[in-house]
Amino acid sequence: MAREKIILAYSGGLDTSVAVKWINETYDMDVVAYTCDLGQGQDIQAIREKALRTGAVDAIAEDARNLFVDYFVWPSLMAGALYEGKYPLATALGRPLIAQLMVRAAREHGATAVAHGCTGKGNDQVRFDVTFQTLAPDLKIVAPVREWKWTRTQELEYAAKHNIEVEATKKSIFSTDQNLWGRSIEAGILEDPWVEPPPETFQWTVDPKDAPDQPEEVEISFEQGRPTAVNGREMDGADLIAELNAIAGKHGVGRIDHVENRLVGIKSREIYEAPGAILLYEAHRELEYLTLSKESQRFKTQVSQTYADLIYNGLWFSQLRQDLMAFTVSNQQYVSGVVRMKLYKGGMIVVGRKSPHSLYRHELATYEEGDQYDASAAMGFIKIHGLGQTTQAKHQLLNAKAGGPRLELPSIIPPDARK
Ligand code: ARG
Repeated sequence: MAREKIILAYSGGLDTSVAVKWINETYDMDVVAYTCDLGQGQDIQAIREKALRTGAVDAIAEDARNLFVDYFVWPSLMAGALYEGKYPLATALGRPLIAQLMVRAAREHGATAVAHGCTGKGNDQVRFDVTFQTLAPDLKIVAPVREWKWTRTQELEYAAKHNIEVEATKKSIFSTDQNLWGRSIEAGILEDPWVEPPPETFQWTVDPKDAPDQPEEVEISFEQGRPTAVNGREMDGADLIAELNAIAGKHGVGRIDHVENRLVGIKSREIYEAPGAILLYEAHRELEYLTLSKESQRFKTQVSQTYADLIYNGLWFSQLRQDLMAFTVSNQQYVSGVVRMKLYKGGMIVVGRKSPHSLYRHELATYEEGDQYDASAAMGFIKIHGLGQTTQAKHQLLNAKAGGPRLELPSIIPPDARK
């Protein structure tokens, strides 16, 4: 009888290569390796061939860049989702898509299980497992690295014993993950939050001190919250992000150093490089300042935070995430226009913005000719606006019968400061 099949998320690295053999032996299953291109800058066909050499019975390599951008990256940009106000969620956004595509592959290949190479300490295992359990509760989940509990030396011994290719190049001193939305770098000396990340941490951004001496301006166009063009040139999403990664990276923009709260209760020090993402978040927010009402803007900050937490915590396929997206799509309908950003030596600043739906109205804001604002209405408005406070002062804070006055200046200065 044929062995059962399992779809393994395969990166071509040591862990998942060893996992192919380990699953064969431990679970007596045939491994179908699954690799997709999320813009991580690797040759996925070469990875597919390595999987076959390593003992996979079949191997899938597919380009998922545009799916990733259109259905995961743009929605989270539109929602303003930055985890803990800092992390643009590149790794966290990739996981539910990879898991979803693996479920599709499992159906196509008649597989009964899925596997990933995550450890038992991080967020990624949660994101994979929850997505599998949500979309395909019948599939068994295998997590070799979480299960085998080996030291690195034991793993290398196993690899040697089974003739598994170990990369000739020296293994990175960090643990990294990357896709077109950003790089995540952790472990090694970065585990000391007092230590400045050494130069070899970074691959996409130059050290700001080595950035060009001339500032550079870039114009980013948006349609209903989605980026559409750079410097007037329309591009598809993956190309647009690649272009902005290059421009912002060249100026040293997009380095993030964060001590973050993992879902599993650990605080961990993470370095991110996300030049394009950080530039887009900043530009997008500037366009919102121009086009969203004050109330929408304020309310949206709550949505942004919840949306970011849902993504980080692996709950992409929750109804709440989809409900918040419905809000976001509606909220973004007038967020169209162009933002001009200036990049210089690791910093960026908005220098211009325009929109056909701008709520910035010159005829209301101007102090010059053409003013249409009715200043005489301000007096009545101010009286009513302050009525609660002026009433309280009269009857309580400044009232002798109520123990007042309690609003004189010295009462708010500490007594010894008056000596
Ligand atoms: N801390 C980030 C997250 O949970 C990144 C994890 C990336 N994984 C890695 N091997 N560096 O989304």
